[in-house]
Amino acid sequence: MKLKKSILLPFYWRNSCLYILDQKKLPFEKKYIRCTSYRDVIRCIIDMNIRGAPAIGIAAGYAFVLAIKEAKGSFNFYKFLKEKAEEIISSRPTAYNIFYCVNRIKEKILSLGNKKNNKEFLFKEALKEVKIIEEENRNALLKIVNYGVALIKNNSSVLTHCNTGPLACGDVGTALGIIIEAYHRGKIKNVYVDETRPYLQGARLTTLELEVAKVPYVLITDNMAAFVIKEKKVSCVIIGADRIARNGDTANKIGSYNLAVLCKYHKIPFYIAAPSSSIDNSIPSGRYIKIEMRPADEVKYINNQPITTKNAKVIHPAFDITDAKLITAIITEKGVFRYPYNFAKI
Ligand code: MRU
Repeated sequence: MKLKKSILLPFYWRNSCLYILDQKKLPFEKKYIRCTSYRDVIRCIIDMNIRGAPAIGIAAGYAFVLAIKEAKGSFNFYKFLKEKAEEIISSRPTAYNIFYCVNRIKEKILSLGNKKNNKEFLFKEALKEVKIIEEENRNALLKIVNYGVALIKNNSSVLTHCNTGPLACGDVGTALGIIIEAYHRGKIKNVYVDETRPYLQGARLTTLELEVAKVPYVLITDNMAAFVIKEKKVSCVIIGADRIARNGDTANKIGSYNLAVLCKYHKIPFYIAAPSSSIDNSIPSGRYIKIEMRPADEVKYINNQPITTKNAKVIHPAFDITDAKLITAIITEKGVFRYPYNFAKI
């Protein structure tokens, strides 16, 4: 399979700086933010200039590399690594990929033992490790796309939520990668894209990526999904994941759970596509997943314009959890898994 690399790179590393594409400005403006320190990267992750679990995982890995580069004077090395890792990981608590990448680099550095005082050496080793993770991610995504395309029936109409393409993954994408490839292989006739309130990742980013990939689509508001599934005869829903528990319970963008329930009612498959770096097998179920709560103003304003009264009370959970039994299959680079899930050994 040959999938074209995205022309919308969510980030790139050059001359010891991480350049992050400001996704908040898309689809209207393409501008990269130059991050020279690990705190610059953390700010971009918290403010969602970069988002999507695999992409923020790798960006967090680069943040850790920058933190090591910035280390000054003598210090307790173990404590330093632990503190910086915790600071970076807490930037967005639900996406497991952040924990996965940062922890891998930390373990790598700790394994180097007596070379702990040579910071230049450690910086280079950390950089090497994040590049290995990046390559693994790339290969994993290609496999996910292949596995996923095989599940799509001919003449399908598919619906997706949030953004799971190159902007979210640093490469071909997960759920959207499957949709794009399946369309080009002639298996898909209609793609419906949820706008994904309140951040509008579907309306702003997924539409852009589908246009770049030359895939026609129809944009809908989130509350049209039931109508569209029923009236337009949607064949399946495919989305990504931010964290998958050992039993398959899956945290993904708020609104995902609604779709899983709809799929159950309408007896159509509900697929999750994600790399194994999103699987947290340290937790038995979704009850242990921390849901990130974001600021109320992100719901109360659109483009700095208020859309409700000043006093409106709001909650803003960024993710919800879908019970494993509502998920038809979880598509990973290690294969396609079906209920009952047990990711203890993945
Ligand atoms: O808040 P976001 O935009 O980071 O949320 C992204 C999602 O929920 C994606 O669906 C998920 O990260 C999977 S990305 C392949």
